[in-house]
Amino acid sequence: MTQAQDAAERIASLRSEIDAHNYRYYVLDEPSVPDAEYDRLFRELKALEAEHPELITPDSPTQRVSGSALSAFGTIRHEVPMLSLGNAFEEKDLLEFDRRVRDGLADELVSHNGNDLFSQTAEIEYTCEPKLDGLAVSLLYERGVLVRGATRGDGTTGEDITANVRTIRNVPLKLQGRGWPDVLEVRGEVFMSKAGFEALNERAMEAGGKTFANPRNAAAGSLRQLDSSITAKRPLEFCCYGYGRVEGGTLPNTQYEILQSVRKWGIPISKELKLAKGAQACRDYYHDIGERRDGLAYEIDGVVFKVNRIDWQKELGFRAREPRWAIAHKFPAREELTELTNVEFQVGRTGAITPVARLKPVQVGGVTVTNATLHNMDEVERLGVMIGDTVIIRRAGDVIPQVMQVVLERRPADARPVAVPTHCPVCGSEVERTQLVKRGKGRESVSVGAVYRCVGRLVCQAQLKQSIIHFASRRAMDIDGLGDKIIEQLVDRCMVKSPADLYALTFEQVIQLEGFAEISTRNLLSAIANSRTPVLARFIFALGIPDVGEETAKLLARTFGSLERIQRALPEVLIYLPDIGYEVAYEIHNFFEEEHNQNVIGDLLRNGVQVQEEGELHPEFAGYATFADFIEKLGIPYVAATGAKNLAGHFKTLEALITADWLDLSAMKGLNERAKNAVRDFFSQAEYAERARMIEAQLREFGMHWESERTQVEGLPLAGQTWVLTGTLEAMSRDVAKEKLEALGAKVSGSVSAKTTCVVAGPGAGSKLTKATELGVTVLDEQALLDRLASFEVS
Ligand code: IVH
Repeated sequence: MTQAQDAAERIASLRSEIDAHNYRYYVLDEPSVPDAEYDRLFRELKALEAEHPELITPDSPTQRVSGSALSAFGTIRHEVPMLSLGNAFEEKDLLEFDRRVRDGLADELVSHNGNDLFSQTAEIEYTCEPKLDGLAVSLLYERGVLVRGATRGDGTTGEDITANVRTIRNVPLKLQGRGWPDVLEVRGEVFMSKAGFEALNERAMEAGGKTFANPRNAAAGSLRQLDSSITAKRPLEFCCYGYGRVEGGTLPNTQYEILQSVRKWGIPISKELKLAKGAQACRDYYHDIGERRDGLAYEIDGVVFKVNRIDWQKELGFRAREPRWAIAHKFPAREELTELTNVEFQVGRTGAITPVARLKPVQVGGVTVTNATLHNMDEVERLGVMIGDTVIIRRAGDVIPQVMQVVLERRPADARPVAVPTHCPVCGSEVERTQLVKRGKGRESVSVGAVYRCVGRLVCQAQLKQSIIHFASRRAMDIDGLGDKIIEQLVDRCMVKSPADLYALTFEQVIQLEGFAEISTRNLLSAIANSRTPVLARFIFALGIPDVGEETAKLLARTFGSLERIQRALPEVLIYLPDIGYEVAYEIHNFFEEEHNQNVIGDLLRNGVQVQEEGELHPEFAGYATFADFIEKLGIPYVAATGAKNLAGHFKTLEALITADWLDLSAMKGLNERAKNAVRDFFSQAEYAERARMIEAQLREFGMHWESERTQVEGLPLAGQTWVLTGTLEAMSRDVAKEKLEALGAKVSGSVSAKTTCVVAGPGAGSKLTKATELGVTVLDEQALLDRLASFEVS
């Protein structure tokens, strides 16, 4: 055998192996090899094809992205027109559809069911599929090879998007198995999953590019690219729901079996495809999918029912452009158009002034919407929204309605820009724009933030109310029965000017409040009294420090063990905790530095609040750093991880480093000249040397010893690790899994970052999983988590 024959054989076998893996992965959803193995096969094929370009065929899995961009799409004619569907919005529409189908098939049903035409047993069998929210596409296979992809267009002529559909990973370039007709045109929806859409928008945002309003727009924008190499980078997917031209072969007799055959040939179909007998069963399917709508990986706008028997479909035929044998049962829309009549500003707990869109009332998903969030001024700018604009509003599940997009074509001539108020709409205090302070390399850089804040603090009734609502809430001080309405009254009547005043309320004061009688007054006062002994974590959380949620509060309490230590902690010390960056560290520090907050804490304690503290420093804290980390975190210019490590190894102690003479420093290896100069300059400034001593002293006071490298930490097995749980867990709830991990010393965080040790991903995992994969963070499934947990159990 010649070398070329060898190569040809190997190429053929690699291609069929890769095609088989693709089939398992995209169609059966049962990956057969690890990604690394797949990549290896793919690379080998690419390399062989590069050596033997004459052996490249268009159906090779390496040939998805073709040469150059088009100047325009060609047009194609659909020999079998691509039709649309009639809609059912209510159950009655569905029952009527079923009635029409049965009327239309009356003759058939008589022969089918004898004279039983009007009995309940004359039920029609329907296929049920989700109605994916994407774009209809036709794929033409000739002798099993994909030769053309086209958009629906007006149903008769569409655009030739062959180069683009070839880049869609789950579209086979070549059919699998056997038995397909010589000419087979399949039809289906090209769409983008929710996770794919989010990841795409995240990437666009990072690159400062334009984001898409929803997965449908993202799919449409991606498919209509003249440059298919752009389409190739977009996470598009295809799902087949029907067929067009069929020549030189036949398809089975039912819609259900046709889709099963198509699947066998390697074309993905919906996993939710079901058969239902009669309208009641269709209705059940509609409700079942409706309930699972939020949990599906992709957006759907309804379900589609089709008469299963193809001969009956033919018998029923079409009316205008809609088949009489199929109907789309739509879910209530989640997006609607309406007019933005005004933008008002609300003041939150931390004083953040948030723009809220006031809307002309509109029904979205069965609920009347009159307001929508605009998040912050960056978002207002990103949307380019003006007062008077027509906007697209979206409401999904329990999520607060959002403004997705402006319909620019409908902007009225008198549209007004959104202006941030210069003074707080509630208390009249000044409004300032937050600053983003980035500290690093011994320098600070300040840029403007997206958030505007009322500087009024607790003078501002809005902030005061929100602070107290937060303070009293279940996960904070847990004052039972102290609802928002009561808090509003207390603040409006000036009975409460800070959270501390709650503990000084008297019977006479409370009983004056609307809706209060003797018993309810006693109940509220005893609920307040019962909240007097919070554990430290709850107390810290209740204070409402900006950016300090429950997790951070727990971490602070667990690490430092006392309120006094947390109050004193320097920002440079706080950053040793996992997941606390400079921004949060400064928020915490500044909060406790502020006189007003000190007074509130003092008043709380004076009014009888007794914080339950562990008192002990957690040994885990000692494991958060090495001397090298310490040097690195000082932010000396040009001294990064390696330089810091070498300095630590050479000098061993901070004093030795501060007092190092120039000779000693020059002789040192593993540090360049520039960095050496920077080290000398840094410590020659008395304030920097002093600050470093202060940080070190506090770290030592709090239990850190440089001798202990992270690996030698005594204590819990997962100490210092950060875990993230995402998706659904089956054997135990996420809360239980979290508790178990925390008991082993791990921190369980809600977001994935480069600091994350491990992500546990269950079914339905989305953007967090994508991010973990991107960052190369270890990902475990639930079984692997259970195995890990079991391995720590003491037998
Ligand atoms: S069947 C003659 N099935 O909905 C039958 N359409 O409103 C034509 N769609 O253009 C379509 N999921 O883009 C069918 N399971 C499904 C579908 C589906 C989504 C879209 C398709 C079509 C539109 C009609």
